[in-house]
Amino acid sequence: MASLLNRSIQLVLFSVLSIGLFCIGEINADWNVEAVLGGGGGDLKKREFDYFKLSLQWPGTVCRHTKHCCSSNGCCRGSNAPVEFTIHGLWPDYNDGTWPSCCSGHRFNVKEIWTLLDALNKYWPSFSCSSVSDCHGRKGLFWGHEWEKHGTCSSSVTYDEYNYFLTTLNLYFKYNVTEVLREEGYVASNTEKYPVGGIISAIQNAFHATPEIQCKGDAVEELRLCFYKDFEPRDCADDSNRQSDMVYSKASCPRHVSLPAYVSSRLENSGTEVSSPTLKSSI
Ligand SMILES: *[C@@H]1O[C@H](CO)[C@@H](O)[C@H](O)[C@H]1NC(C)=O
Repeated sequence: MASLLNRSIQLVLFSVLSIGLFCIGEINADWNVEAVLGGGGGDLKKREFDYFKLSLQWPGTVCRHTKHCCSSNGCCRGSNAPVEFTIHGLWPDYNDGTWPSCCSGHRFNVKEIWTLLDALNKYWPSFSCSSVSDCHGRKGLFWGHEWEKHGTCSSSVTYDEYNYFLTTLNLYFKYNVTEVLREEGYVASNTEKYPVGGIISAIQNAFHATPEIQCKGDAVEELRLCFYKDFEPRDCADDSNRQSDMVYSKASCPRHVSLPAYVSSRLENSGTEVSSPTLKSSI
C-alpha cells in the first residue's frame, strides 16, 4: 500500500508539473464534437474538458436492491463488503453541464492495470453482475466502461489507462469523504436521518469546495467531488451558472437524507460461494 501511495504521489506531482505544458497544446484542440459509435475510425477528438468530477457511490444504498449475486458483484461480499464510499469513476466534464465521452479508439486492457487490481476490487467495485457497454458496442468490465467512456477524454492530464486508474485511486485516498462525514457524526445507519445541508457543509469545510449529491428516495446514492485539472478542489457547480440555492435545488435529495447501513447480500437462488477469485483482501 505504501508503495502504491508513494507512486501515486509521484504521479500527481508529475501530472501537476506537466499540466502547464499540456494546456498550451490543448488550446488549439478540435472543437468539433463528433459521434463516436459508428465513427468508423474517424477523427475522435473532442473539445478539451474543463474539470474533473470524482463520482463516489454509497454501497449501503446501491446494494439495497441487489437481486443477483456473482463473484464480480461488490454487493455480494458478505463481511468483506465495502462500508465506505467507493469509486464510481473520474469524469472529465465541461462547465456547461455536458461532458465528452468515448474520446479515442483505445481499448480497455485489463493487463495494463494488473498491479492495481487488489486496490480496484476493494475501492472501485462493480455493484452489478451485468457487463457494461464499452465504446465499441461490446460488453465488458465496469472498469473498461469507465476508462473508455470517460478516461479516454482526460488523456491530456491522465495520459493512459494505467495512470487514469492510479490517479483516480490517489484522489480517492486523499479526499476521504467517508472519514469527513464520520467526524461530523454522519455514519451509516438504518434509523437516522441527516440534514443534507449538514453533509454538504461538512465536505465544504473539509475540502473548501461544494460537492454534488444524489439520492435514491431519501438515501444518499452518490457524492461527487470536483477538481480543477491540477487536482485542486473546486465547486461542482460552475460559479457563472449558479443561482442562489441552485446547488441544493439541483440535487435529487430531500432535506433530510439517510446513509443506509450495508446489508449483506447473498445469493438468493443458490448457496454458491460468492467470493471473487480475483479478490485478495490483502490491502
Ligand atoms: C478513510 O478513512 C477511514 C477512517 O475514518 C479509514 O478507515 C479508511 O480506510 C479511509 N479510506 C481510504 C480509502 O483511505
